[in-house]
Amino acid sequence: MVSYIETNDLVKVYRLGNVEVQALRGLSMKVEQGEVIAIVGPSGSGKTTLLNIIGGLTTATAGRTWVEGKEITNASPAQLGYLRQKMVGHIFQTLNLIPTLTAFENVELPMLAIKTPAAERKKRVEGLLTRVGLELRMHHKPDELSGGEKQRVAIASALANDPPILIADEPTGDLDTDTGAKIVRFLLEINKEMGKTVLIVTHDPGIARQTDRIYRIMDGQIVSIQKPSESEESNIEVMLQMYKDRLQETNAELDDIMTMFKEQRIDPDNFAERWHNLHQTKSFLEQELHRMGF
Ligand SMILES: Nc1ncnc2c1ncn2[C@@H]1O[C@H](COP(=O)(O)OP(=O)(O)O)[C@@H](O)[C@H]1O
Ligand SMILES: [Mg+2]
Repeated sequence: MVSYIETNDLVKVYRLGNVEVQALRGLSMKVEQGEVIAIVGPSGSGKTTLLNIIGGLTTATAGRTWVEGKEITNASPAQLGYLRQKMVGHIFQTLNLIPTLTAFENVELPMLAIKTPAAERKKRVEGLLTRVGLELRMHHKPDELSGGEKQRVAIASALANDPPILIADEPTGDLDTDTGAKIVRFLLEINKEMGKTVLIVTHDPGIARQTDRIYRIMDGQIVSIQKPSESEESNIEVMLQMYKDRLQETNAELDDIMTMFKEQRIDPDNFAERWHNLHQTKSFLEQELHRMGF
């Protein structure tokens, strides 16, 4: 019996000219219906690639994948289209909202693609935008909305065709902590209320802790699976590892922008701002690690 969502020994190789990048190296995971799963791991570890395979946006080089219990490994383009339109709602870090369309029209778009009748579209769009608290913002364009509001439009749009599965790729990436926490609370509520299966990629240990299970990915493989509720001790371990990863990444980013600055590949203002932000993150992480005894 396969699980609701399952991958078996997934391999994904990207080819750029003569260069090969192995993004997934035999990744196997199982998700049951109705679960909320956090996927964590350093950047470049293959999280987005995994979600894009499950969401039918790309196909694996080798290995097998099942979604809603059905195998999609060798799905035709039409079958993958159906998967994207009806089965999996995708919330991208970049949100993918169309700037010239209103919130209403952005949410309506996926329904037009499957030819939902106009009256039903209107009813559903209004219902969804009301559900995410945007009943007074329906006719605003993305530019006229705050980061958190745009995020909520993206969630409503992902829910447009009532897919049983929701995928959120770093949904809190650019948001402040409060707004980010609200968005995740939304996703958790949607999971409870509507019984959707939810996969969230996150860097935030506080968010990961609220899910049913945490999958850690490194170098294209699952390196651990943890149940946040199981024990305080393993929680601390997960948090610790996430903070350590984040610190390592922050240091690498600092090195990168320093090199770019020296080679005059970044303008001084931009450099100063990024350096300042990264330094703040770095001291926060160091303080937290110190507090945890490291
Ligand atoms: N379209 C692509 N073409 C070439 N390489 C890619 C592409 N997408 C991702 N990669 C590479 O694959 C690896 C995994 O990327 P990704 O799945 O985006 O990781 P994550 O989401 O964990 O940051 C990285 O080394 C990345 O540079
Ligand atoms: Mg990613």
